[in-house]
Amino acid sequence: MNANVLKIARLPDMLTERLFADFAVLDSDEQGSGLGEGAAHIRALVANGESKVTRELLARLPALKIIVVFGVGYDGVDVAAARERGIAVTHTPDVLTDDVADFAMALLLGIARGTAPADRFVRQGRWADGPIAFTRKVSGARLGIIGLGRIGRAIARRAEGFGMSIAYSGRTRQAVEYAWYADVRQLAAQVDFLVVAVGGGAQTLHLVDAQVLAALGPQGYLINVGRGSVVDEAALAQALVTRQLAGAALDVFEDEPRPHPGLLGLDNVLLTPHMASATWATRRAMADLTLANLSAFFDGQPLPTPIPG
Ligand code: DGY
Repeated sequence: MNANVLKIARLPDMLTERLFADFAVLDSDEQGSGLGEGAAHIRALVANGESKVTRELLARLPALKIIVVFGVGYDGVDVAAARERGIAVTHTPDVLTDDVADFAMALLLGIARGTAPADRFVRQGRWADGPIAFTRKVSGARLGIIGLGRIGRAIARRAEGFGMSIAYSGRTRQAVEYAWYADVRQLAAQVDFLVVAVGGGAQTLHLVDAQVLAALGPQGYLINVGRGSVVDEAALAQALVTRQLAGAALDVFEDEPRPHPGLLGLDNVLLTPHMASATWATRRAMADLTLANLSAFFDGQPLPTPIPG
């Protein structure tokens, strides 16, 4: 039987095994290398949140009807090209919201309280030489959230528990009690911690630029759990080197898996490898939803979680 599902991303073993057990799958890369004549039979494509699904790849798959994304973000998918062809796109919202919000707080607390350098301090036997430097208080501080969607709101709820005041920016004011700023620069000027919880794509490209970082200022911290493309990473490295910004904690990067080299030698950054949703429970739930979308497509049933719009 010809394979009719194309897998172009690295996926957790638990999902890959079920994909190969239940569907006729071909493994390839984002260019669809080695597809040959098999391309004509592909009806479904499985990608992840970081995959680039280009117009060129879609053009090579004439029978494609659905792109199933293992992840909530789908900014790498050329949605316009897919829509022109009537190709459906699904993703995995909701099931990862708690984990990403938890991780945003872990990054925020980690960079403010210096947990990574403190761990090194103890391991390297420096404790005996004297006390560690004081760190930054989080409870009661001012939090700004770029993007008050599902994840942004979950971060805000957690921050309320820390007695933080909360403000946000986004296209429109929402029915919440938090202060709203239409302009990200104005938001940055009003807060101590600025968390990026917005998705990627052309509309948010370098939304956090040198001016926003300058507005956040030498006492301010940036946390990014959205997409690397939202932050001008070169400008961020520059602001951190010159201490025009107190610190940054980043889970996502412009060119993953390669953070800007200027960030790597700094002690006022906390870097993690795009792992905010990577708990066993959530990755299982994301795998279930990915398979549910794929099964629904082949069974002719309504798709559980199509992208909005
Ligand atoms: C997502 O779900 O979009 C996460 O960033 C993992 O890709």
